[in-house]
Amino acid sequence: MNTLEQAYTDKIGLLNMPFPSSIEVVDNQINIHNIVNSKAYSTLPVYNFWKGWWVEEPRNIVEKTLKVLWEKKINTDDFKNGGIEYWTRCFKDYGSLEWHQDTCENHYLGEEYLIAGCSQVYYVEVSDDLEGGYFEAAPYRYRLDLKTHDKEVLNLDSNKIERIKPKEGRCIFMDSAQMHRVTKIYKGTRKNLTSSLWQNVPDFYKECENWDLEYDSIGKHVLKKVDWKDKYSMEYMA
Ligand SMILES: [Fe+2]
Repeated sequence: MNTLEQAYTDKIGLLNMPFPSSIEVVDNQINIHNIVNSKAYSTLPVYNFWKGWWVEEPRNIVEKTLKVLWEKKINTDDFKNGGIEYWTRCFKDYGSLEWHQDTCENHYLGEEYLIAGCSQVYYVEVSDDLEGGYFEAAPYRYRLDLKTHDKEVLNLDSNKIERIKPKEGRCIFMDSAQMHRVTKIYKGTRKNLTSSLWQNVPDFYKECENWDLEYDSIGKHVLKKVDWKDKYSMEYMA
């Protein structure tokens, strides 16, 4: 193991993930707490934060679901000063996501490039006709800067890329620093619930727990605080 790899292991060690791949797949977790039909899931803002069940009880069905997914995976002591960032994305019609690490999204606004501890992607609904939309992970998981990450994207060895098919009830766990992407969807839809664990609460979420993302007239990111009305909802859609 080289020095960089050792530095990684000492720093994280959260899920006991081997190097270089941190990917772990758990199947058959079908629609936990009927999340698909919950009001909270259907109205989720773009970026959200919860201090975690070790600080406060789940406040909505989404948080209840996150507790089930993470409970047996982590030592909550590692996150006593942090919490869980969570979001959902519904990809369809040629939607895709470029190579990235799971970071605090305000780096797009020129803030620090902060990488989360560990992340999960849970496929809550996948249409039968889905074509594409694979989750791919590359053997890069260093906690450096965006420039180095972007440079490494150009040197990826395609033989070393892991490819995982979206499947309803499947959950992927990984080191948030593991470079990953979603390939183009040619047909069908998939909905997910994704989260990242933070050892310290990012300043962005100290300011407000719920944010929406908009684009201004020249395509620049604009983050807006949200007063999420279903934040404390345990209800389901009629
Ligand atoms: Fe991601």
